[in-house]
Amino acid sequence: SKIDGIAEGITLRDIRKVGVIGAGTMGGGISMNFLSAGIPVTIVEQEQAALDRGTGVVRKNYEASAAKGRIKPEAVEQAMGLLTPTLNIEDLADCDLIIEAIFENMDVKKEVFGKLDTIAKPGAILASNTSYLDVNEIAAATSRPQDVLGLHFFSPANVMKLLEVVRGAKTADDVLATAMAVAKKIKKVAVVAGVCDGFIGNRMLKPRQIEAMKLLMEGATPQQIDKVHMDFGMPMGPFQMSDLAGVDIGWHRDPSRIENVRDALCAVGRWGQKTGKGFYDYDEKRNPSPS
Ligand code: NAI
Repeated sequence: SKIDGIAEGITLRDIRKVGVIGAGTMGGGISMNFLSAGIPVTIVEQEQAALDRGTGVVRKNYEASAAKGRIKPEAVEQAMGLLTPTLNIEDLADCDLIIEAIFENMDVKKEVFGKLDTIAKPGAILASNTSYLDVNEIAAATSRPQDVLGLHFFSPANVMKLLEVVRGAKTADDVLATAMAVAKKIKKVAVVAGVCDGFIGNRMLKPRQIEAMKLLMEGATPQQIDKVHMDFGMPMGPFQMSDLAGVDIGWHRDPSRIENVRDALCAVGRWGQKTGKGFYDYDEKRNPSPS
């Protein structure tokens, strides 16, 4: 079928092996999408502890699905058998699609894409899961900007259907078309977005976050504000979402700056569910503890 502005009859690139860089909140969930579709994934971290934690979360998620009868018990080992954890980015040399999901910091992302440029095989698609950063600038860190695009998943990445496919100024048509086909294969609802601040989803959510912070400063509690959203029929409110996604996402761009409650929470390590505390406190099962 025809994809926004893409000519028909394009030859798609073969995606048989996927690489994921970063095994944090997003990397694990992103990997699960491919593992569940039977596509092998090599996941790269910079520290053993983070790698173990990330792959542990993937296993736990599969085991929970099996316990609920959503997947067969043998599907857990099947999926885990397709996952190769490593600390060596050079192990991505044979991947057809590499998705970067590391800290939201331009310098760090550029460094990784510069490295990928020397490691990835010719024709490999290089994607960033960035939430806000300029995909064109990331692409310019490589000698092959035609192979670069944004693949913006939403948290939890193994659950949320939406995938923004971010088309850079130089992204080749067959790269975009392949990304759309891959999205279909992993059962996502793909939407093409241009390079802009926050793409579509986060751009829409931003004013809501800003108003929520204003209300908080005026004396409303996160509980009150979130409750109103839930009553409106949304699955969660802005503070619950922030804790789930990671309060620290935007903060890594400049951790020295403390301008609002969010920055202050980050500075004291209240990064949300992943650190057990954010706007809410959580127990070890990530349920909000009464406080
Ligand atoms: P996170 O902080 O949970 O995980 C990032 C991981 O990357 C860490 O485990 C870190 O050790 C690892 N890492 C950092 N530099 C590395 C390197 N050079 N090589 C290998 N691993 C490295 O961050 P999170 O939340 O998963 O975000 C990752 C990216 O995804 C960011 O660009 C963020 O903006 C984006 N994103 C986040 C969403 C969310 O809801 N958390 C939603 C959509 C996109």
